[in-house]
Amino acid sequence: MRKKIVAGNWKMNKNLQEGLALAEELNVMLAAEKPACDVVIGTPFIHLAKVSEVIDHKLIGLSAQNCADKASGAFTGEVSAEMVKSTGAEYVILGHSERRMYYHETYEILKEKVLLAIANGLKVIFCIGESEEERDKSIQNQVVKAELEGSVFNLSAEEFKNIIIAYEPIWAIGTGKTATSGQAEEIHAYIRSVIAEKYGKQIAEDTTILYGGSCKPSNAGELFSKPDIDGGLIGGASLKAADFKGIIDAWKK
Ligand code: PGA
Repeated sequence: MRKKIVAGNWKMNKNLQEGLALAEELNVMLAAEKPACDVVIGTPFIHLAKVSEVIDHKLIGLSAQNCADKASGAFTGEVSAEMVKSTGAEYVILGHSERRMYYHETYEILKEKVLLAIANGLKVIFCIGESEEERDKSIQNQVVKAELEGSVFNLSAEEFKNIIIAYEPIWAIGTGKTATSGQAEEIHAYIRSVIAEKYGKQIAEDTTILYGGSCKPSNAGELFSKPDIDGGLIGGASLKAADFKGIIDAWKK
């Protein structure tokens, strides 16, 4: 059975004190009213160890937003997958379009990061998605397929079970322009079919595929009602506990 997940991606927001306060607030809210899905928060590196101590990991999973493409050594400023794991985090977000665009992360670099994350016992929230220009040319399917082939389809079936896909159309991230639930469902179903071709029907059925891009309490219910949309990766709306909780609660309707 595939998991329903609502994951927050805080990006480069909140100092340590603000981040701890948000994590604690969310923990209290979810302890009082159990969610109907798995909940994950993706914090900056610097927050991980402390946030790990203030959350109940049975209620909230903890994620980094990146990790190094090298195991250890002389790589000044980098943070390894092993270090992420040692904070108590269970997940890492990899392949976010902002990392691909601004930090030039290629398929090859991401392939190394994914392998190291899995080798260190982390689950990977692997982001894929097309630009506006690519959607205008109707090549979104080719784009997401190439992203999967370039960085995760080298994994064994056993390793692939640690992958959660997040489909995030770049034109919908932080723009307020959400994909319609129909557009999202269409490409989620396509992504699942590509996974089925590679790993078989059962693994494809068991893979969680999240939607990301201007997801908020007002549209989450409609998106999550689609058969191939298993939750969301949430940026802006994960920065306030009430908004994030509103999206989590969409699974209760
Ligand atoms: P957004 O970001 O919800 O602010 O659009 C989503 C993401 O980039 O993960």
